Amino acid sequence: MSLLEVRDLSVEFDTLDGPVHAVRDLSFSLDAGESLGIVGESGSGKTVSVLTLMRLLPSNARVTSGQVLLDGTDILRLSEKQMRAVRGKRVSMVFQDPMTALNPVERISKQVGNTVEYHDHKATRQQVRRRVVETLESVGVPDAERRADQYPHQWSGGMRQRAVIAMALINEPELIVADEPTTALDATVQAQVLDVLRQARADRGCSLVLISHDLGVVREVADDVLVMYAGTKAEYCDRETIFADARHPYTRALIRARPGWGPRTERLFTIAGRPPDLLDVPEGCPFVPRCTESEGLQACRTTVPPLLEVGPQHVAACHRARELDNLGDLTPVGADGGAG
Ligand SMILES: Nc1ncnc2c1ncn2[C@@H]1O[C@H](COP(=O)(O)OP(=O)(O)O)[C@@H](O)[C@H]1O
Ligand SMILES: [Mg+2]
Repeated sequence: MSLLEVRDLSVEFDTLDGPVHAVRDLSFSLDAGESLGIVGESGSGKTVSVLTLMRLLPSNARVTSGQVLLDGTDILRLSEKQMRAVRGKRVSMVFQDPMTALNPVERISKQVGNTVEYHDHKATRQQVRRRVVETLESVGVPDAERRADQYPHQWSGGMRQRAVIAMALINEPELIVADEPTTALDATVQAQVLDVLRQARADRGCSLVLISHDLGVVREVADDVLVMYAGTKAEYCDRETIFADARHPYTRALIRARPGWGPRTERLFTIAGRPPDLLDVPEGCPFVPRCTESEGLQACRTTVPPLLEVGPQHVAACHRARELDNLGDLTPVGADGGAG
């Protein structure tokens, strides 16, 4: 059985302009110890999807259908009290901006320690302290014994994100969800923080859902990749296949839009147009106004594409997915393919 299974999840927001369909019929699963990367442009429903599985959606959001099974239990049906025993314990989350997760006027040691005490009422002060220091050390905080007693503003952005990751790890969760954990950091620090996540997963054997708008980031860490477009699953496959045999024109556009990730002969391009207005998603395929492959195929304009199976554990929501098998490998030049 999968550790996490999301089945046919749909989430709507009530807005003054009407219902916004942020996530539609989304399904995916994750085995224990596996990592899944979720990619897509801003507004594609990545954050809403994972906030649903933490049960942290804003009050104007509604889950209109679906299940989120953690070890077979639908967490959408748990009471808030039962959910509090899951959140931060069995599943924990790392957000984009470490400052939103940290209290500026409390010492790091206290904040990380609170996460332990919240779930373990019997731990003594010394035990909590030792776990805090050990966990900070495990995510690469130097001189953790001393630095633990500092305040967040005394730490750099990268170190603060390590503290947040330590908070996420300290109760030994089965699943960590990291939503754009490196987006707010500069490039060198990004790579270090990804390393911390990769290492944590290797050391602890926990599962990881990593969200990014950047396929390169996902490729560094994830075993499998879920590409989202306009709240739906556009493509799903393993990390090797995504560059070697992506079938959804959107996935291919994402790859080619990334600096340094196309074949050298190909000029970098951006994806023309914008994602659809989720208040009013057009008929047919949501990607059609921006698609380079839809010409002459009426179905693209009239029928939502089904998820076509195009290989083992590989699906793409494109009417042409099975034809688009000879578009060529987009594996980055010089990629070793062995990261992680
Ligand atoms: N608080 C909100 N109120 C109304 N609509 C929202 C709200 N948050 C998100 N949405 C809608 O949900 C869509 C998906 O948002 P989100 O999951 O945050 O995207 P991503 O994380 O992929 O950038 C947005 O495009 C927006 O239309
Ligand atoms: Mg987001």
